[in-house]
Amino acid sequence: MAEQLALYPGTFDPFTYGHRDILERALRVFDQVEVTVGINAEKETLFTTEERTALIRTCTESLTGVSIVSHEGLIVDRAEVKGASALVRGLRQVSDFDAEFRMAFANRKLAPDIETVFFMTSEEYALISSSMVRDAHRWDGDVSKFVPPPVVEALDRKKTFHDD
Ligand code: COA
Repeated sequence: MAEQLALYPGTFDPFTYGHRDILERALRVFDQVEVTVGINAEKETLFTTEERTALIRTCTESLTGVSIVSHEGLIVDRAEVKGASALVRGLRQVSDFDAEFRMAFANRKLAPDIETVFFMTSEEYALISSSMVRDAHRWDGDVSKFVPPPVVEALDRKKTFHDD
């Protein structure tokens, strides 16, 4: 049987343990998962596309079957170019459902052959979001429970840079 590739798209500003949890779950189902870092000019990010991509690479070194790329444009276009059969999204709580439902339907209209597959996050990560991590860190909160060490270090470097 041909290898099954899925894309896991997101902004990942920054990559959290919650994202890694979803990625690990997806790797139990798909042979290969491409983490597709969206370039969205309308979304202001703390980390540049290159920084987000490099951080994910560092944080997923130990995982087999993962690739990381950045992409500008429709996610389904990338999926079609790569021959991916599915898009992976994480569900943390019921409130995620509305937006995810709409995005999945839009993507299905755009590319009927590509399925969106949802994975439920572990309960310890159900309340983590990238903006919560950025906010907590800005006010000197300890975010080491939420993000891997390289992300903590990158957040510290950003803060030092901005505080100077
Ligand atoms: N762990 C931690 N955080 C999680 C999470 C998890 N398991 N699952 C979702 N999130 C959070 C993120 O941290 C982020 O939180 P924040 O906004 O508070 O920082 C939020 O959920 C949404 O992030 P994300 O999943 O990255 O979605 P997005 O809307 O920022 O990006 C793309 C999704 C990449 C698909 C989109 O931005 C994009 O690039 N689209 C291109 C155009 C396209 O194809 N659109 C779809 C069809 S019209």
